[in-house]
Amino acid sequence: MMKQNKKNLKKKVKKFFTERRVKNNARHYGVQYPRFSKGAISIVVISDLHCGSIKGACSSRPVLANKDSHWELTDEQKEVRKVLVWGAKNLRKRHIDVLIINGEGIDGENRHQHGNQSWTSDPLDMVNDVVKLLHELFEWEICYVSRGSKYHVQVGATDWDEVLAEKLGAIYNSPHSKTSISDDYGLLRINGLKILYAHHISYSPDPAGKGRPLSKELANCNDKAETRADFHIRSHVHSYGEYKAFFEDENNDPKMQAIITTPCCKYPDSFLFKGGMGHTVPDIGFVEIIVEEDGELFINPIVAKPESRDPHVSDVNKILGKRHEKRKKV
Ligand SMILES: [Fe+2]
Ligand SMILES: [Fe+2]
Repeated sequence: MMKQNKKNLKKKVKKFFTERRVKNNARHYGVQYPRFSKGAISIVVISDLHCGSIKGACSSRPVLANKDSHWELTDEQKEVRKVLVWGAKNLRKRHIDVLIINGEGIDGENRHQHGNQSWTSDPLDMVNDVVKLLHELFEWEICYVSRGSKYHVQVGATDWDEVLAEKLGAIYNSPHSKTSISDDYGLLRINGLKILYAHHISYSPDPAGKGRPLSKELANCNDKAETRADFHIRSHVHSYGEYKAFFEDENNDPKMQAIITTPCCKYPDSFLFKGGMGHTVPDIGFVEIIVEEDGELFINPIVAKPESRDPHVSDVNKILGKRHEKRKKV
């Protein structure tokens, strides 16, 4: 009987995730990926892990070093982990060539809430847990880190995304500094394609206007050679977005440019509700990008919407019960 129940549960979980994947990943509607050549390079971009938040990503067993104990995962942490583990199993190329952590590996001290939604107050616990989680999820050749919002990653003079970069053995990639591993943005050249990754981009809470910051950023970056790129990667907004347009390259030839924003690995905390409840359900996951030998770009957003959560609704009539009957007479 127990065995049967377990089997049924396994089936249910599998069905649930498969449905979510097909339902939420627009790329899977009729888009056929080709057989990639040996020279194709795969990139995985993950960002906004917010490790340290009880609503963010975490390893299978987070360590509280100073307390000589381990943190027991919340339901939301378990849910985020399920999506990430499922995503890692569904990569087109299992062995990742380039991993980019595009800011906010950690949630930080959560000072607006005095850390009441953090599982540790020690940023080192958080950074160590990001490293552990990434090794649990992926295998990669080389990695890069960009720096997230200061509220999350900066304590005093220390940028903890830089500490994360050091712990991961990331490639030094600051556009102008020779002494730091990470920076606010970085540039890559992959199979002829110029890529600019940066954590920040402006944000529109209006769902119909979500594309505007992307088109604006792409056009603005095209103004100067330093910020011009064939493909831009941004994060920070906790949702997946994509925009493509033709611009003139340095030889005045039209060239397609593209920009994406990456999903996140965190449910909203109380601070994130400050702008209202609307559109606070995030996209959870990461993005796989494959650049073919000739520079052709394939984008595979691996995204799940946690809309399946069934929130508790307090049934007032049921609670009032007989008291309600009495009140009718009043
Ligand atoms: Fe974030
Ligand atoms: Fe951010």
